Amino acid sequence: TSLPEMPAGLPEPVLPPNAEVVLTKRYLRKGSQGEVLETPRQLYWRVAAAIASEEAKYVDSSYSVEELALHFYDLMITYRFLPNSPTLMNAGTDLGQLAACFVLPVGDSMEEIFDAIKYAALIHKSGGGTGFSFSRLRPQKSRVGSTGGIASGPISFLRIFNTATEQVKQGGTRRGANMGILRVDHPDILEFIRAKEREGDLNNFNLSVGLTEVFMQAVEKDEEYELVAPHTNQVKERLKAREVFGLLVQKAWESGDPGIIFLDRINRDNPTPGQGEIESTNPCGEQPLLPYEACNLGSINLSRYIQNSGKDDILWDELKRDIHLAVRFLDNVIDASRYPLDKITETVQKNRKIGLGVMGWADMLFRLNIPYNSQEALNLAEKVMHFIQFEAQSASKTLAEERGPFPGFAESTFAEHKQGPFRNATATTIAPTGTLSILAGCSSGVEPLFALSFVRQVMDGERLLEANPWFEKALHAAQCFSPKLMEEVASKGTIHHLDYLPETIRKVFVTAHDIQPTWHLKMQAAFQKFTDNAVSKTVNLPHEATREDIWQIYWMAYEMGCKGVTVYRDGCKSNQVLCTGDGG
Ligand code: CDP
Repeated sequence: TSLPEMPAGLPEPVLPPNAEVVLTKRYLRKGSQGEVLETPRQLYWRVAAAIASEEAKYVDSSYSVEELALHFYDLMITYRFLPNSPTLMNAGTDLGQLAACFVLPVGDSMEEIFDAIKYAALIHKSGGGTGFSFSRLRPQKSRVGSTGGIASGPISFLRIFNTATEQVKQGGTRRGANMGILRVDHPDILEFIRAKEREGDLNNFNLSVGLTEVFMQAVEKDEEYELVAPHTNQVKERLKAREVFGLLVQKAWESGDPGIIFLDRINRDNPTPGQGEIESTNPCGEQPLLPYEACNLGSINLSRYIQNSGKDDILWDELKRDIHLAVRFLDNVIDASRYPLDKITETVQKNRKIGLGVMGWADMLFRLNIPYNSQEALNLAEKVMHFIQFEAQSASKTLAEERGPFPGFAESTFAEHKQGPFRNATATTIAPTGTLSILAGCSSGVEPLFALSFVRQVMDGERLLEANPWFEKALHAAQCFSPKLMEEVASKGTIHHLDYLPETIRKVFVTAHDIQPTWHLKMQAAFQKFTDNAVSKTVNLPHEATREDIWQIYWMAYEMGCKGVTVYRDGCKSNQVLCTGDGG
């Protein structure tokens, strides 16, 4: 297909601080000598044109390709919406792999194990991340029929996957991220829970234990549960559920790994159970997928939907218009994407899962003067996400009328419940937006800020003081801005201790560590309530948090309907990535 030409007079994107560095390093197309071949304007037009050109084959569309390309371009350069990184990097290029999330099956044979490693390498090369369940592998020391030998078990294969990943730098620029899952009733579960206890081990993997309803009930009643060998279905052992849960809590307290996911709950929301069980999520946990399934994500920047008039309010009509455009964008991405394996193409095209989510949530709250750790914020989270889920589904319905429902629809739970038809088996997911939020210059995902201002050391040794723009604005409005204050905030990250600042400012401008862990979790649950897939969120704990605190957080996550939970205790690793002021 020929792409629409860049129209004359197309507005130039205004880049937020740091976006230029990130774009140049990772996103702008490069020549064979590493020379930069495009400008940011050309990048955003390349993406807009490539994704809009898919519209041409849908004769019932109400948009022309040219018109749609302009809408998509406008969405991106005003940072109201951005698609996930692989789409920005590869749309309209020869590579053409546009999805961030993949799940690959790992079968219980040498062929299947090494196939999975090979497929993962291909996906990492194209910028995608992979999740695997190792639950089908026979436990270590089981017999291997063909050779008469003994099996090495899931954890030793995990190490091979990890080493393979180390060798393939993702998309040439970022290293492949992986998720490894083991069911809690697998006989090797204790070794799995301890697999990352030494720092640096399995550094290319996030690990999560797949908890079952049976297990959780055994914890509650303080009973034993069964470990079952997957290849024979034989019960190998019985363990006290509370001891296993306690070990999980202990390891998460020590290093943040493993996290937990609630497998039965994920499968209760599986829209296509006839196609098999969901065994794993993508690397950051927000996207449960079937084996060989991929999903592309995109995020709406909530901080852009506030009226600038004195009476701040949310721009619902604009938000609705953009959700509909974004869903069309993400559905077109499925057609535009070229996957590294036919089996993946087949599965993706059958269910057409997309994941529209949000970023800039903390900024939105700043702008509305609502503290993150308040009931008001939880109510607004539900209201906003309910709106997004409803409009995303309604957009998917419109697309189904124009283009037909996803091919797996007839056998889906929607058909059974007389809902839809929809174009997409899922429509909403909340991603971490680690790099997207830098490109858009907003807070990431639904996370609070780590610091209101901080010092960035740039390459030539210069120190740059960076502050959250809404914080700066509020200080100016209250007439308490000063460079000295900004330096002070940068050294601590928070303003919690500065009792000479107005009360409202101290209440509204809270950071991750000012917020009690239970509020983190309640926020995750509020968004999860109206998200088809899952929510990427870390529950941050202070260094002094106890094992008991983590036990309670895990239990609350279970009771509040979350699909999983990740905790991180401040300072529990020596090379902590995110840190503020003198904390690191
Ligand atoms: O902001 P960006 O689109 O780059 O990514 P994100 O929202 O932080 O992460 C979304 C998903 O991209 C993750 O859950 C992974 O599936 C994938 N990802 C990855 O494979 N490797 C990374 N280094 C970062 C993200």
